[in-house]
Amino acid sequence: MLPEKTFDGKTGIITGGATGIGFGIARELSRLGARVILASRKEENLRKAAGEIHGEYHVLDVRDAAAVEAMAEKFGPVDFLVNNAAGNFIVQSDQLSPNGWNSVIGIVLNGTFYCSSAVGKRMIQSGRGGVILNVIANYAWTGAPGVVHSASAKAGVLAMTRTLAVEWARHKIRVNAIAPGPVHTAGASERLFPDEKIEEGIRRTIPLRRFASLDEIANAAVYLLSDYAAYVTGEAFVIDGGQWLSGADYWGRIRQMLPR
Ligand code: HXC
Repeated sequence: MLPEKTFDGKTGIITGGATGIGFGIARELSRLGARVILASRKEENLRKAAGEIHGEYHVLDVRDAAAVEAMAEKFGPVDFLVNNAAGNFIVQSDQLSPNGWNSVIGIVLNGTFYCSSAVGKRMIQSGRGGVILNVIANYAWTGAPGVVHSASAKAGVLAMTRTLAVEWARHKIRVNAIAPGPVHTAGASERLFPDEKIEEGIRRTIPLRRFASLDEIANAAVYLLSDYAAYVTGEAFVIDGGQWLSGADYWGRIRQMLPR
């Protein structure tokens, strides 16, 4: 979508960048000239993904604040950060253990803050500013039965996006979010759309009657990261085929299809 070389001379970190939506965004950034650093937990995934897009990688669990700080120190001030690392599984709220809650909150909410803080501080110190993009979900506004941990965390990241956008505008740092609905990726499909019946049920909740492609998500992401969006900050861009308009219980239909 954007002209080649849009990201020439720019360097950035993408958490959860070895697979799924993160990899889709990383691949497009790399194609547009960026130096891309993929950061996630599994080295085998990282090595393969970085090789494919001629990027670099760093093994990282975003829940570990000290490890996040060490990564930010290693790479120095970067031009952009994509907070994409996420964890999610379908569970009834009354059956979710504190540990299950903490693991999703730890990755999504705490991890996004640790990375934004460590990288943002260095963007401020460099005086060059930068861009942060948070990957949330369309249910950040409505909530969604079956994903109380993820919906709560994503709503927190939405508030963080707007807060940091205002606080850091004077440092020339823009902070935005994209909010996808259902997208086919290996990780999400296995956890969230485990069979054809469930997938078809979800498709019926989407006015455009299909899931997003990775390219559609990546195109929106790279626009917000680029200088073409230089006047956009604190925005959360929903890309979900209109799904959220069908009401707060759309994801709840997943729950209805699962055994209790
Ligand atoms: C109930 C579960 C569970 C499940 C894990 N737990 N899976 N509880 N149902 N299916 C509980 C465990 O029992 C344990 O609690 C606690 O969660 C931690 O589990 P671990 O496996 O030890 O955690 P960990 O290795 O840290 O794994 C984190 C994870 C996992 C979040 C649980 O799913 C993960 O690594 N996911 C990363 C990839 C991912 O989820 N990608 C999809 C993101 S899609 P107890 O009490 O037993 O110790 C997304 C956006 C969707 O977020 C939006 C769509 C529109």
